[in-house]
Amino acid sequence: MPVKTVIIPAGGLGTRLLPATKCTPKEMLPVYDRPVIQFALDEAVAAGATRILLVVGPTKTALQDYLRPDEDLSRHLREKGKHALHEALQSTGVPSGVEVEIVVQPSPRGLGDAVLCCAPYLERTPFGVILPDDVIFGDPCLLQMGRSYSGGHMVAAQAVAPQQVSQYGIFRLTGSAIRGPIRASGMVEKPSVAEAPSRVAAVGRYILDPIVLTRLSMTPPGAGGEVQLTDAIAEDVDTKGLTAYLFDGERFDCGSLDGLLSAAVVRERQLRHGNAIAAAG
Ligand code: G1P
Repeated sequence: MPVKTVIIPAGGLGTRLLPATKCTPKEMLPVYDRPVIQFALDEAVAAGATRILLVVGPTKTALQDYLRPDEDLSRHLREKGKHALHEALQSTGVPSGVEVEIVVQPSPRGLGDAVLCCAPYLERTPFGVILPDDVIFGDPCLLQMGRSYSGGHMVAAQAVAPQQVSQYGIFRLTGSAIRGPIRASGMVEKPSVAEAPSRVAAVGRYILDPIVLTRLSMTPPGAGGEVQLTDAIAEDVDTKGLTAYLFDGERFDCGSLDGLLSAAVVRERQLRHGNAIAAAG
């Protein structure tokens, strides 16, 4: 089932990446040649989205600027004969036919709050969420999930080391699998190792039943004093069902310096490999 509307929350403060993020949103930091946000936009489009709701904070405007076509810059590159750069520029943003709407999150009150800010713009059909911090290379993760989705809530999943469980939403699982969908009976946001119901963590890709919006409007702040999407999803497990989806692909936490660096190394290798194939062909 294609996911027609995708929310990309990008209104956080990026505190883990200060001072680089003092005046630049973290989603504008580069993964080698292009900003983090571009990978989220590309994946949304690959999954079939025709509408993207980009949630931004009220002050930093670089994301809106990035999405605006720059005719002067295009003309300059063409006139200077910089065709490869011109082509690279043309391949960013979103293709025509895909609409991006900016939704302002007045204050960074958490992921659940960012999704709730989109409620007035959503129809009563399932929608996708891509957290741009989680850059995933390989078969587009949200597309993999859409192929398997048949209702309820579905969240991408990955096994993590015990010492990392407190950084993630963690699933309580009722089945087991090596890849693909697994039935889950609950989810806990950022538990301690002792309290974690499994070692399988939520990764930032979701396909959600719209009932979650009603839940979110009643969800009090949870872990870290923020309104947690995990808490709202967990409330619907008995009525809507929850699927953890073990995806194929390589994920990088680009909300951290080490993740950004590792993703950039892989991206550079991919580009070099692509160029070598193009040159040989
Ligand atoms: C968010 C979610 C968490 C999920 C994580 C994946 O946390 O709340 O459940 O495991 O993304 O990256 P955050 O990284 O925003 O603290």
